[in-house]
Amino acid sequence: MTIKTNITEMFGIKYPIASAAMGPFRTTELAIAVAEAGGLGMISHANQSMDGREVSAITAMKKNLDYVVEHTDGIFGFNIRTSRLTVDCDKLISETAKHIMANPKLREQCLYALTSAGSASRMPQNKDFQKLRKASQVKHFHVAPALWLADKCVAVGCDGLVVTGFEGGGHQSYEKVQGLVLLQQVHQGQPNIPKIACGGFATGAGMAAALALGAGGIAMGSRFIASKDSEFHENYKNIVPPAKAQDTIVRTGGLGTIRLWKNKFAMAKGLVKSKEEKMAEEKALADHRSAISQEQLAEELRRDTIAAFAIFDGDTDNGYVLLGQSIGVIDQIESVADIIENIIKDAEKALKKAVSFIV
Ligand SMILES: Cc1cc2nc3c(=O)[nH]c(=O)nc-3n(C[C@H](O)[C@H](O)[C@H](O)COP(=O)(O)O)c2cc1C
Repeated sequence: MTIKTNITEMFGIKYPIASAAMGPFRTTELAIAVAEAGGLGMISHANQSMDGREVSAITAMKKNLDYVVEHTDGIFGFNIRTSRLTVDCDKLISETAKHIMANPKLREQCLYALTSAGSASRMPQNKDFQKLRKASQVKHFHVAPALWLADKCVAVGCDGLVVTGFEGGGHQSYEKVQGLVLLQQVHQGQPNIPKIACGGFATGAGMAAALALGAGGIAMGSRFIASKDSEFHENYKNIVPPAKAQDTIVRTGGLGTIRLWKNKFAMAKGLVKSKEEKMAEEKALADHRSAISQEQLAEELRRDTIAAFAIFDGDTDNGYVLLGQSIGVIDQIESVADIIENIIKDAEKALKKAVSFIV
């Protein structure tokens, strides 16, 4: 028995489970493990070389694509954050698309192009991505944390949505809508577009709920961090069990609202601002220093990246520990294969039980 959905059909994968995008970290080992286990792996928008040093996102992306495709015959994708603060975003899209085009194995297996944290139209407007779209079965998804954004994604021709609720770890939207309501809202507004539910998913029961609410699969971040296969530091993994759901806090980072594990770094970070406040702050900065460049505006983002590297090296006090409320339902560190198989088994049980209520 398995669970077949529009997402398994679209990508030709065994299980409707994806690993979430988790930049600035390198998530190549995790992507391989998820793809090997029959799910949809994810190469994050990383600024990290294989040995953990900071490198340009373009260099990291090409190396990570090559590494993953050499180590699995499974299906995977990549994430590009299209925020206005992403330095060289269009170049990163072009270089990534050209790199995939040039390698027939990548063209076959790298089928999931996920944009987030910015405009949904940047990828489909890019000429190199357009060529890739014609030459392969690649599907473009965008992260939609609100109905208005889901509408925009559909308007620009996205193939699917990653519908991400506010309980999720890492960058979150200013709208603050939780996944339960968001999924219903987006499915009511956009019933036909394939959806991957994200934010707060870590169990089979959660997956069953997502499918009942109109999603064709789930994506998980925190659950996969706390796996034997991920390249996250043991200290990072060991936060997850025994953490409680209430051990995260929402703060403002370089890209906007972020959900973090409550540690010294998170508690010292600024309070959440509205989108308008954040944009006004960026504008004021730009007006005061008329020669300000996009690079300077991205400075806060860089500081976050440096703090993120601290946790990559195991510093749980000063690190930028991105985790979601789902940590409250994760009670052990297992292999990715076991996580996926157990979730599918439990989701099947939950769905069958739900059907038994119908008389
Ligand atoms: C360590 C970490 C890094 C993240 N970085 C990104 C990113 O670069 N791009 C993105 O779209 N989402 C990012 N996110 C959000 C995840 O893609 C996803 O929405 C989130 O993990 C879902 O919640 P969960 O952790 O409860 O599964 C990040 C999340 C985490 C935990």
